[in-house]
Amino acid sequence: MKGLSLFLALLAASAAQAQQAKKPDPDFLGGRDVQQVTGEQIFTHICQGCHMPDAKGAVGAGRYPALASNPKLASSAYPAVMVMNGRGGMPPFSMLLDDKQIAAVVNYVRTHFGNAYTDTLTADAVKAFRPPPPPIDTKEH
Ligand code: HEC
Repeated sequence: MKGLSLFLALLAASAAQAQQAKKPDPDFLGGRDVQQVTGEQIFTHICQGCHMPDAKGAVGAGRYPALASNPKLASSAYPAVMVMNGRGGMPPFSMLLDDKQIAAVVNYVRTHFGNAYTDTLTADAVKAFRPPPPPIDTKEH
């Protein structure tokens, strides 16, 4: 999994730029039965490195928006797609986390830190956000 370690190194490097931010520690996934990892664990090991343990974000070398009391989390699709695809300084996690884990961490932040969105995002809904497989090229060359 060479690509994955490179990705994790880049991730750690970009988080290190955040003032006072602890390095994200996505390596914790490696040593565990992935199905047993909770949204809270994903948050503490990955997200809080940039978004801070209280999810209030940080402004330092970069700008890390607050997830706490964030009205943009009202639609579960928004944080789901953000976690999967990233944007700007937010890395994409679609290769690192499976559908269930993405749903778990999104459900966790949407029900903690002053957010009280109780409609649950399912793993199936996350799956629907993944890009379709590339079309099979049936043309003769
Ligand atoms: C390496 C640092 C970093 C890590 C790790 C990280 N984020 Fe982010 N996140 C960002 C930055 C920077 C932005 C702002 C991106 C932009 O708007 O350009 C952001 C934006 C977001 C947003 C959109 C907020 C808004 O108001 O628009 C959500 C939701 C989010 N992150 C959730 C998460 C979750 C959940 C995790 C853990 C799985 C996570 N992030 C891990 C840096 C990070």
